[in-house]
Amino acid sequence: MILNRNDKCWCGSGLKYKRCHMNFDEELQRFADKGYEVPTRDLIKSKEQIVGIRESAKINNGLLDLIGENIREGMSTEEVNVLAHNFIVSHGGIPATLNYDGFPKSVCTSINDVVCHGIPDRNRILIEGDIINVDSTTILDGYYSDASRMFKIGKVSEEAERIVQVARECLKKGIEEVKPWKSFLGDIAEAVQNHAESNGYSVVREFGGHGVGLDIHEEPFVSHVGKRGTGMLLVPGMVFTIEPMINVGGREIFIDKADGWTVLTSDGSLSAQWEHTILVTEDGVEIISK
Ligand code: MF3
Ligand code: CO
Ligand code: CO
Repeated sequence: MILNRNDKCWCGSGLKYKRCHMNFDEELQRFADKGYEVPTRDLIKSKEQIVGIRESAKINNGLLDLIGENIREGMSTEEVNVLAHNFIVSHGGIPATLNYDGFPKSVCTSINDVVCHGIPDRNRILIEGDIINVDSTTILDGYYSDASRMFKIGKVSEEAERIVQVARECLKKGIEEVKPWKSFLGDIAEAVQNHAESNGYSVVREFGGHGVGLDIHEEPFVSHVGKRGTGMLLVPGMVFTIEPMINVGGREIFIDKADGWTVLTSDGSLSAQWEHTILVTEDGVEIISK
């Protein structure tokens, strides 16, 4: 759609195009003309949508805080699920993963060699030495926020400590690459991959981050392996997750045939993951969901 200077902007702000996204569109076009991949309009969130995503994230963040305070040896992953479910629902939200594509629970609980998408289970009791990722997506008033954290159960091995720490640093290094009009998805990918591999670890390729906000998974796919200067240009208004899955051993994975969901490392080595939802702002990055 061609907009004239005095038309209302496409973003829904109610402002005239020339006072809103006109310069933005021209700048995007300059990058596109040079051959760079640029986001389509539907990947740019409006101010109103950003407010909604932040509100959703308040619940999601609160839930992960609550789990941090309560998770302990002897608890089942189903108890973690119930805690999460009740927290989201009592705050007016909806757990996005429940019944998503048939996923049966309100959070993912991924322990030790489980890479992601572990299913809470009343028979899986947390024991000392486990490392567990709890991943939650909350919907509030139609807005989605997504984050995950690692938790250590009692005293864990040195190797477990280290993979949890390095995975967290990978996320941090990825986020540090987010520079509006200056960096690309490939910059995030390269920073994550570099940090993992320089620590002797490997990066899972089959799963990655994603746009989020109006749906559980949106474009673009956010790879955690890649090359600087490649992939989509980062511009203000983009909302996506960064969620590196880092393995102690090889990067190969498989999906448990018994449930069709649980993703495990092929060599049985430990895996760790941290996830934030971030917003690209005018001058940097805002961590919305953590
Ligand atoms: N929260 C997950 C993510 O980070 C999505 C889980 S989908 C499920 O993308 F079905 F596995 F729960
Ligand atoms: Co998630
Ligand atoms: Co995600």
